[in-house]
Amino acid sequence: MNRFNFHQKISRENTASVKWDLTKDVFGRSDVLPMWVADMDFQPPEEVKKAIEDRMAHGVYGYTYAPDSTAESIGLWLNKRHGWKIKNEWILYSTGVVPSIATAIQAFTEKGDKVLLQSPVYTPFFEMIKQNGRTVVNSQLKLENGRYEIDFADFENKLKEGVKLFLLCNPHNPGGRMWTEEELRKIGELCVTYDCLILSDEIHSDLIYKGHKHYPIASLDPRFAELTVTCIAPTKTWNLAGIQASAAIISNEKLRKAFQAEQHKQGFFTLSAFGIIGMEAAYRHGGEWLDGLMDYLEENKKTAAEFIGQHLPGIRLMEPDGTYLLWLDCRGLGLTDDDLRQSLLEKGKLALEPGPKYGSGGEGFVRMNIACPHEVLAEGLERLKRAFG
Ligand SMILES: Cc1ncc(COP(=O)(O)O)c(C=O)c1O
Repeated sequence: MNRFNFHQKISRENTASVKWDLTKDVFGRSDVLPMWVADMDFQPPEEVKKAIEDRMAHGVYGYTYAPDSTAESIGLWLNKRHGWKIKNEWILYSTGVVPSIATAIQAFTEKGDKVLLQSPVYTPFFEMIKQNGRTVVNSQLKLENGRYEIDFADFENKLKEGVKLFLLCNPHNPGGRMWTEEELRKIGELCVTYDCLILSDEIHSDLIYKGHKHYPIASLDPRFAELTVTCIAPTKTWNLAGIQASAAIISNEKLRKAFQAEQHKQGFFTLSAFGIIGMEAAYRHGGEWLDGLMDYLEENKKTAAEFIGQHLPGIRLMEPDGTYLLWLDCRGLGLTDDDLRQSLLEKGKLALEPGPKYGSGGEGFVRMNIACPHEVLAEGLERLKRAFG
């Protein structure tokens, strides 16, 4: 029995929620169950809510800064959960990981430079490269036995072309792969050899299923740390995306100064009062809640796998190592992406993320977010069956 109330259904309608209130704009209809955007339908831990409420009750919301205690809370968390010892001064704050990706691109590359990614991958990776006038280089992941694997020969060939920066997604969205220590060491060695910086997006790294472990690439070897910017955030882990808070951890002083100078050019100096308070409370007090959440998500994952296995033979679920995102291989249904979308919306009344959004390799897939009460998941699965059963 989970001691946290993840069963509770909380209406998010009319809260300016992207997931719940923008379905009409994005999918053209509002009668759909939204299981697309990567946030959760749960409240955060009590301690986080209380810390924000107490700050709110104070009533004066003047300029604030992130005190040392916030950096300390991040350091304690990373050491305890991932065995990574960092120093307070390595931390720079940012309103989000996507803004940090943009900052890194601007700070470390020039217009036209090559930036590497591994598709299918989180859409803003492509957008940040393109919108900043850089060139996307893609080393597409290989699908082997229903799991994504890195094609290291291709990866190395791409680095040889003179790539300046590699955007690593660990754990990987949408596939849910947590890259193993061996894989990360190979990546690190190749980036050292070809003098390529790494931006390691580790936003999903606390959402780990049993039997898996997250390795921050910067923690594996001082040479990897020298060329890495690691982005973490409390926002996926504790469902705080609306307070916009994240951290970029950079041990290499030269890189850190360049990243910070770019932030200052953009006029960014610090987080909001609520971002700082929520972030620190989550890292200090969120451990037990997170363990409860992962038990709950593990049940959701199992339910979805069983249901799909039983009722939807044309769909194959990619077993995620981490994240609350299910990457569903629908190619067995023999439908085009347009037909998939249409069936989901019209027959199923279900809003999922279309695979092609994640670049090449995403065709024929959809992404389903299972961070919701069991009851909502059951409804979502029924709708999936109505769409394709
Ligand atoms: C891999 C990845 N990076 C970054 C983000 C968003 O980060 P932020 O809201 O901090 O900009 C997401 C959200 O889905 C994500 O999946």
